[in-house]
Amino acid sequence: MTADPRLQTLPDEAALQLHADGSLRHLLTLKDLDRDLIIALLDEAESYLAPAGALPVRSDALAGRTVGNLFFEPSTRTRASFDLAGRRLGADVLNLDVNTSSRKKGESILDTIYTLQAMAVDIMVVRDAGAGVPAFIAQHVQDFVSVLNAGEADVSHPTQGLLDLLTIRQHRDDFANMTVAIVGDIRHSRVARSAACGLQTLGVGELRLVSPPAMAPADGEFASARVLDNLEDGLRDADVVMALRIQKERIDDLEGIPGTDEYAASFGINAERMQLAKPDAIVMHPGPMNRGVEIDGSLADGPRSVITRQVTNGVAVRMAVLAHVARAMGRT
Ligand code: NCD
Repeated sequence: MTADPRLQTLPDEAALQLHADGSLRHLLTLKDLDRDLIIALLDEAESYLAPAGALPVRSDALAGRTVGNLFFEPSTRTRASFDLAGRRLGADVLNLDVNTSSRKKGESILDTIYTLQAMAVDIMVVRDAGAGVPAFIAQHVQDFVSVLNAGEADVSHPTQGLLDLLTIRQHRDDFANMTVAIVGDIRHSRVARSAACGLQTLGVGELRLVSPPAMAPADGEFASARVLDNLEDGLRDADVVMALRIQKERIDDLEGIPGTDEYAASFGINAERMQLAKPDAIVMHPGPMNRGVEIDGSLADGPRSVITRQVTNGVAVRMAVLAHVARAMGRT
């Protein structure tokens, strides 16, 4: 980490990320997005999905705009999908190469942001290992710049949450009568936090968070979810099962964390265990997957899996978010 200034207290994210009319100025977290806004984003994302066999949907919604991808943490899917989403909407897309950028030389994150702003980058897509960084940047940019959180520490990953909601809604849109089981390293997962937040806003019937005790969320963090440490109980009659990677890079204290073999034996999801779930239950994973650890390879490639659909939906959701913030921006 460089000597970047970090926020001591987070700004009021709701005031920061929403315009007065309720549209998105920035996307920092799903917490302040009401049901109508989430549904509108999912509906718009649907409009960017091409029929099977057709070329990807394109538009000029971002013509003249510049999207900067600033990934200060590794990423494959999220970065590639923001890149394609921007291009398919007609934007110029700048992928900042963090390994060679001045941030490695100790330039503060704000200097990097001001430099990009001076080059008319008007949508900044940020992934960072530091909690609060997207909001910190959003506080300092000019009025016509939007900041999109592409993964913030273990705190949130809002576009992943939206693509997960879209994928679930394509399976069944009756959220109130649905049981969703998120299985794995809940404690260190920004994916679980954003998915849980979005599911609760859409009124999910039952949300189960299933993990070994050392990977369970802090007491009370997910007030209306059922926290379970037994996989069979977690999977029984579930409609949706989402497997998560063990986030080793974020685990400081390995005390109580099972090794991969032990984890696979107790919490790995496979076809046999999926028989406990509903007969048509789907299996999700945000990637990157560790086949044979949190998910069996043949299950990931099998008919229950919607993992590649999640990736396709990821481009559509990012197109929807980019188009939404561009419409709401001051500069034309
Ligand atoms: C996730 C992430 O980076 O938070 N991946 C992703 O964005 N598709 C999950 C992970 O790294 O395990």
